[in-house]
Amino acid sequence: MAQENEKHQVIFSGIQPTGKLTLGNYIGALRNFKLLEDSYDCIYSIVDMHALTVRQNPTELRRACLSVMSLFLAVGLDPEKSLIYFQSHVSGHAELAWVLNCFTYMGELSRMTQFKDKSAKHADNINAGLFTYPVLMAADILLYQTDLVPIGADQKQHLELARDIAERFNGVYGDVFTVPDAYIPKIGGRVMSLQEPTRKMSKSDPEETYIAMLDEPAVIRRKLRRAVTDSENSVRFDPEGKPGISNLMSILSTLTGMSMDEISAAYDGRGYGVFKDAVADAVIAEFEPIQKRYNEIFADKAYLEQVMTQCAERARRIAGRTLTKVRRKVGMAALKL
Ligand code: TYM
Repeated sequence: MAQENEKHQVIFSGIQPTGKLTLGNYIGALRNFKLLEDSYDCIYSIVDMHALTVRQNPTELRRACLSVMSLFLAVGLDPEKSLIYFQSHVSGHAELAWVLNCFTYMGELSRMTQFKDKSAKHADNINAGLFTYPVLMAADILLYQTDLVPIGADQKQHLELARDIAERFNGVYGDVFTVPDAYIPKIGGRVMSLQEPTRKMSKSDPEETYIAMLDEPAVIRRKLRRAVTDSENSVRFDPEGKPGISNLMSILSTLTGMSMDEISAAYDGRGYGVFKDAVADAVIAEFEPIQKRYNEIFADKAYLEQVMTQCAERARRIAGRTLTKVRRKVGMAALKL
């Protein structure tokens, strides 16, 4: 984080600790968390309260929380600079979410595509938390007076709702919240499934459709070799006509910095096998060092404990400023302890 006297812009983002983080999470979000770390005051949360909207096994959830925190650290995020903490350790998220619920309309929430998708998937458990999930997400962001939110394209609708809620609240009470902007990568904002490249890569789909950040190199290569492409044998960027190849090109482009033209020039006409192997090489080269650091960090429970405690403490202090303001604005009596 910047020194007290320097005012940097604030970044906030969160990742759910469910299942395994994928190459989509990495390219759409986590990788950018690291790239933005030096230029902003960054706050990154493992959003364990959001995870409760679907049934979780408590032991596995606890483990997943530590695992995601270890991955944050393994990609190189520095807890001295950025805050890395669990959402449930800062009770202000829940408190602000309640207030914001009173400034959010049922109609807005019923239009959220993630709610529609998740309620179709979990038809036996369409709980109120699933419905108000985007309000908790708005609270996460607005609590820290966030300027910029690095996310994948699938979270754009939620971010727009957070902006609407902030503007509505500010319209009534004056400038209480910073209205945040989304930061969505132009290439890689939507990494697609390896088996159905017109769908988003998702950790809740079957194993062979996604690459997990902790997949072994041989598994990464096998999954990419089996990725669905087309019968044209031409490495050309055309997301509509050639979704499979275009997805692999986007992955290669974000990881190597090569442009689409450079990728076409290097691999067109050499067969899809050669191209897929090049994508596998790039993904393995990116993930191998991260996996090595992850294994060390995940084993060091004392270190993880220290990071989570210190960051939560600092996050609570920042959140407290916004909460005090919100309480005063809406008319809650001041409590002097
Ligand atoms: P989650 O946990 O589903 O995903 C974490 C991040 O990864 C991005 N992402 C992708 N990006 C590109 N291609 C994909 N296939 C792909 N799949 C996932 C997501 O867009 C996200 O940025 N609601 C959020 C978590 C959240 C949050 C927040 C995010 C809670 N509060 C506040 C930002 C700010 C979610 O479920 O992300």
